[in-house]
Amino acid sequence: MNEKKARIAVFVSGGGTNLQALLDAQQSGIIHSGEIVLVVSSNPTAYAIERAKNHGVPSVVVSRKACGSQEAYEAGIRAALEEYRIDLIVLAGFMSILSADFTSRYPERILNVHPSLIPSFCGKGFYGLRVHEAALAYGVKVTGATVHFVNEIPDGGRIVLQKAVDILPGDTPEVLQRRVMEQAEWHLLPAATEMVSAQIVAASV
Ligand code: GAR
Repeated sequence: MNEKKARIAVFVSGGGTNLQALLDAQQSGIIHSGEIVLVVSSNPTAYAIERAKNHGVPSVVVSRKACGSQEAYEAGIRAALEEYRIDLIVLAGFMSILSADFTSRYPERILNVHPSLIPSFCGKGFYGLRVHEAALAYGVKVTGATVHFVNEIPDGGRIVLQKAVDILPGDTPEVLQRRVMEQAEWHLLPAATEMVSAQIVAASV
């Protein structure tokens, strides 16, 4: 392993604030056992690609639509992961479901951040703002974020870190999303990424 750091690929689809938190954590040394060497975007117009560019991190766009089939799409992603000798995949606002065939190739090597306290408001159909809309519609008073390993069950892999965030009177989905990001996601995802990177490095010596 190069300089004894885990080689990390971050998967994105949109704005990429979680990618930004990871890049900042790498710069400040919070992430020091791993290095972000590749960004994979499912969306050619994702602003996250600009964030990667600003930090000198190469990015590849692999579009499900352009590939035609899930098999071709995932084969394209796997080819990029092999080229960059990736040890750890971090899903940071990645809005495309990966098949069991894909996830089973990387057991406990794929992390995801989800904007609720799993097992609430998670699984198929719960992503992005929809998660916060559902929490507000239900009327829960506490929500949060979860970082978990990814397996064949959507949002069903082993939980790594979790943090609760209060819901306040008058919250809109947008206001709540921002609070969950600021108070939970942007801290949990870098912390979990460092933790798993350190484990990968330790296992490689
Ligand atoms: C984040 O809140 C992330 O937790 C959520 O999408 C947002 C992406 O924001 N992910 C999911 O809902 C996955 N099921 P970002 O692009 O600014 O990081």
